[in-house]
Amino acid sequence: MKMPHHVAIIMDGNGRWANKRGLPRIAGHKIGLESVRAVIKGCSEKKIEVLTLFAFSTENWERPKDEVGYLTGQLLVKALEEEMDELHKSGVQLRVIGEIWRLDNKLQQKIADAQKLTAGNLGLKLVIAISYSGRWDITEAVRKLCGEVAAGKIKADDITTEKIGEYISLHDLPEPDLLIRTGGEQRISNFMLWQFAYTELYFTDVLWPDFREKELVDALNVYVSRDRRFGKC
Ligand code: FPP
Repeated sequence: MKMPHHVAIIMDGNGRWANKRGLPRIAGHKIGLESVRAVIKGCSEKKIEVLTLFAFSTENWERPKDEVGYLTGQLLVKALEEEMDELHKSGVQLRVIGEIWRLDNKLQQKIADAQKLTAGNLGLKLVIAISYSGRWDITEAVRKLCGEVAAGKIKADDITTEKIGEYISLHDLPEPDLLIRTGGEQRISNFMLWQFAYTELYFTDVLWPDFREKELVDALNVYVSRDRRFGKC
């Protein structure tokens, strides 16, 4: 069994990591960024093609205002400001998926700059899902397809599974082979619902700020030991 082409991660447990130490939740997100760095490095070294990180879900907008402000206004902006040069030098190509228009203008600008800067890079494709949800992704695809039907460009009968897939985020990349979720919960939480049809799921109790290269290797070893049949025998 080969290494995964595409690894997706639900980075859960930052708040609990901070609580355990009597720190504000924000401190957990801050250290979580170090795990992000470690995982990007690990995936680049292992020549994994795509790494998708769930940084902020549509549902996360419901969190307390100061936490939302910290995640979308400070942490992600700071991460892009501080990391992009290094990521660019190491050949990482950045893509962001989600409702970008909902983000504050400064973050939108940083995302646009970073995507432009790294568009031609041939190393790891790093996808950050921000204000993203799987149901939003599928809804967008349906909305666009209905527009094509209304404009007479395609017929309703032309809508096949493959056709819908063409309108889903990251349709031009291999689908995730492995989903890692940290923090002990065993659910998908409205992440890439369409793309996960045959993804191998790996759950670990390790909290995200403690998830580093060793924990990544553990997850990859479990993946390599799995027998993938894609519904066939
Ligand atoms: C979930 O932990 C984590 C988040 C909602 C934010 C994760 C974001 C980062 C680590 C920064 C990512 C940055 C880049 C550039 C990709 P939680 O708050 O739900 O923890 P809990 O379940 O313990 O409360």
